[in-house]
Amino acid sequence: MTIRPARLRRSQLSVPGSSEKMIAKAAASNADHVFLDLEDAVAPSAKPGARKTIVEALNTLDWGRKTRCVRINDVTTSWCFEDVIEVVEGAGKNLDTIMLTKAMRAADVQFVELLLNQLEAKLKLERPIGIEVLIEEAAGLQNVEAIAAASPRLEALIFGMGDYSASQQMNLRNWGSDGYPGDIFHYPRFRIAMAARAAGLDPVDGPFGNFRNEEGYRREARWAHMLGFVGKWAIHPAQIAPALEIFSPGAEEVTRARELAAAYDKALAEGVGSVNVNGTMVDAASIRIVMNTVRKAELIGI
Ligand code: COA
Ligand code: MG
Repeated sequence: MTIRPARLRRSQLSVPGSSEKMIAKAAASNADHVFLDLEDAVAPSAKPGARKTIVEALNTLDWGRKTRCVRINDVTTSWCFEDVIEVVEGAGKNLDTIMLTKAMRAADVQFVELLLNQLEAKLKLERPIGIEVLIEEAAGLQNVEAIAAASPRLEALIFGMGDYSASQQMNLRNWGSDGYPGDIFHYPRFRIAMAARAAGLDPVDGPFGNFRNEEGYRREARWAHMLGFVGKWAIHPAQIAPALEIFSPGAEEVTRARELAAAYDKALAEGVGSVNVNGTMVDAASIRIVMNTVRKAELIGI
């Protein structure tokens, strides 16, 4: 059983695996996590070359403390198995996770898991490679609980709203402007967050295409954050800073959380189960919320 490493995923930067220039910029960026794409950002004719570019970049660039991920083509394509084999054989030691696209059922994740088992044994890799999964098909959302429980390598579920809306044939022509009651993505986000948390995984929100619309990006990120998501994709460097801000607790929030945690510890030591801290009641339930903030601050290093 793999122990899931605690990783920051406040900002996951997407980079076309065929672009050496953008990959170099991504390695030097402030994103917590970078995924080098072999799927939709790379034309079919460029995919074999992109695998080599990615291997070279993983092995030679300084990635700092970032999580290094490669996004692969889905299991119905002719590219999926060779994406995993070439990237792991070439750069397995310098790779943290593989991101599987368009997962529809648990077996799709297990296909990647079995390949990784074999490659890690063959290459004698000491550090297990994790799996992140995109939920972006109607069938994937329907099977999300089974997908979330499919493999001990799983670390995160990501909501891919672009492909998802195509898969369900949603009509987004007037998205956000014609009075649809509520957030059109509320249900898939809520369901993905629930499935992820129940399985001990990180829920991550996918892309926002209009990278010049910062207000729109921030609104989507805030809504995802409210539902328990740990971060959001960036498809452009301009989207990194807003996500880092929105998915980090503020300094004041952290100070207050630490005060409440200390007050609660003191109360427990005195045999008291609920305590008044400046007009706020703290007990076993409310301290769980506080401790989420304390742990997140520790992971970030605040
Ligand atoms: N990662 C790293 N660097 C990026 C980047 C990314 N995702 N997107 C843009 N940049 C770089 C550009 O190369 C440019 O660098 P420069 O100033 O040294 O020339 C700089 O950031 C500013 O970019 P800009 O000119 O505003 O945009 P662009 O026209 O070069 O690129 C896109 C726009 C949409 C083509 C590009 O952002 C992109 O390819 N994004 C990723 C798409 C993707 O991964 N899709 C799949 C997942 S949804
Ligand atoms: Mg997609």
